[in-house]
Amino acid sequence: MNTQRSFITGTGSYLPARILSNTDLAGMVDTSDEWIRERTGIEQRHIAAEGELTSDLATAAARAALENAGVEASEIDLIVLATTTPDNTFPATATTVQHKLGITDGAAFDVQAVCSGFLFALATADSMLRQGLFNNALVIGAETFTRILDWSDRSTCVLFGDGAGAVVLQSGEGEDDQGVISHHVRTDGSKKELLYVDGGVSSTGTIGHVRMQGNQVFRHAIANISSAVQAVLSDTGHDIADIDWFVPHQANQRILNGVAKRLGLDEEKVISTVAKHGNTSAASIPLALDQAIRDGRIQKGDLVLSEAMGGGFSWGACLFRL
Ligand code: UT7
Repeated sequence: MNTQRSFITGTGSYLPARILSNTDLAGMVDTSDEWIRERTGIEQRHIAAEGELTSDLATAAARAALENAGVEASEIDLIVLATTTPDNTFPATATTVQHKLGITDGAAFDVQAVCSGFLFALATADSMLRQGLFNNALVIGAETFTRILDWSDRSTCVLFGDGAGAVVLQSGEGEDDQGVISHHVRTDGSKKELLYVDGGVSSTGTIGHVRMQGNQVFRHAIANISSAVQAVLSDTGHDIADIDWFVPHQANQRILNGVAKRLGLDEEKVISTVAKHGNTSAASIPLALDQAIRDGRIQKGDLVLSEAMGGGFSWGACLFRL
């Protein structure tokens, strides 16, 4: 039966020009290229230029997604931007992106769920489109995450990078197995101390820096992600064998491999950008999705599974057909 649903009709991404290699980092803190590659799979990450803002990265990714979808900016009536590193405390960075795209109508707001942010933003936009509140959305994940790193803390500063990815999400009628099929997002605030920023507007009045007990987060990540994935699969009656492509949040190659193994997913179906991008938080899923669509791996009609886990803890999974 045909129902009102949302469809991803275009993708785009943007990476800042400057690259910081593992060897560069070994000159800054007590680490090595070998340790970072072995423990994380990361080889390099991109760093936003001085004066280059999250809204600049997001706008570039959004423009690429609009062009890819063949949609004019003036047709967009909803922007949901996932970020942990907004340009300013307020207004929402999404409204700055809206302005930079020349859009004066509709609604734009930010979603904050750290590394799971893109899935929370996609779930939010999908729900609003299904309800008929808006027609054409931009869902963006954008971060200048390196600005909240403590560059003297080797346990975190080697992991993250900057970037942005975007999708155009359009409403329309379709079958149950088309477009955005199912999403499952969850949080558990009791795990805050394992991954957080030690500053903020109402606590310290400072931006603060990322603090993480990496091995604890790692342990929870595989379990939480696997349960979210099982939820979207059982919700839709799909089996893991039905999945054409797996586009996970890119935190650590060992997490990607661990989740794929636990789910019984063929490793060849896993899209990995962690080596070249590092962990770009909310940007990592749309960046990886765009890359795999543009290089021809993910094609129209493919069934795609996505998942993420981040600070909060927050985690989730989403199933969609392109
Ligand atoms: O996206 C948001 C969610 N975040 C994640 O999913 C991250 C999840 N966690 C991880 O990816 C991994 O836990 C890390 C990559 C962060 C760390 O890997 P690990 O295998 O869990 O290492 P560890 O934290 O248990 O540390 C092992 C050793 C320690 O030394 P000792 O105590 O054994 O002597 C650390 O001090 O590695 C040391 N270490 C480093 N050594 C060289 C920690 N960071 C570094 C480093 N270079 N950069």
